Amino acid sequence: MKTNQPLLISFEGIDGSGKSTQCKMLYHELLDRGYGVHLFREPGGTLISEKIRDILLDRENMGMSPVTEMLLYFASRNQLITEKVLPALERGEIVLLDRFVDSTLAYQGYGRDLPLESIHKVAEVAIGSVTPDLTILVDTPLETAETRMDSRELDRLEAENADFKQRTRNGYLQLVEQDPARFLVLDGRSGIEVLKEEVFNRIDILLETES
Ligand SMILES: Nc1ncnc2c1ncn2[C@@H]1O[C@H](COP(=O)(O)OP(=O)(O)OP(=O)(O)O)[C@@H](O)[C@H]1O
Ligand SMILES: [Mg+2]
Repeated sequence: MKTNQPLLISFEGIDGSGKSTQCKMLYHELLDRGYGVHLFREPGGTLISEKIRDILLDRENMGMSPVTEMLLYFASRNQLITEKVLPALERGEIVLLDRFVDSTLAYQGYGRDLPLESIHKVAEVAIGSVTPDLTILVDTPLETAETRMDSRELDRLEAENADFKQRTRNGYLQLVEQDPARFLVLDGRSGIEVLKEEVFNRIDILLETES
């Protein structure tokens, strides 16, 4: 297995934007190249986190308060970080996250209008100083993302209204403005192969500078 400096890379974007497609392709590419690499989805990635995921996405839980929702995301995230992410990074491996803390800032902060300050406070307890080396935002217009979700049954958050989703997408773009160096922003309307090449190019640069 190739040794490397540890790398934490998160993928972000609204539902149906194309995140999972890109992070799965990157995961397989890095595996093929012989890297120690892990891919976790959020919320989830551990037994306990997957149970929290079920509560969060259950359409029976429409009455969940915004703060409960935010705390559950961070509970799931803390378990994932503690149990899986930090140990892998300590071994010098690469961790890919299909969603991370920017999702909570975009959805619960900008989308649900929870004060960003309170989210940052909880983040400090739940994840401390863990920050991605790179965050790939697949920025996709609502209409495009929705056509990609047509055939599936929507979970609790996917069933939210268009205003919420628009605020979330705009929220992501504001997060980019606050910390542009951490983000690679992709135009989600581009084809899967075009996006894949942009992702791989950026990762190649990261891996070169890290080794
Ligand atoms: N760039 C693209 N162009 C066209 N179709 C795409 C593109 N990327 C992904 N798709 C298709 O759109 C659908 C949703 O993609 P994907 O599951 O990657 O989105 P996602 O952002 O992970 O969604 P969710 O947040 O709901 O998990 C899939 O059927 C996928 O094949
Ligand atoms: Mg996905």
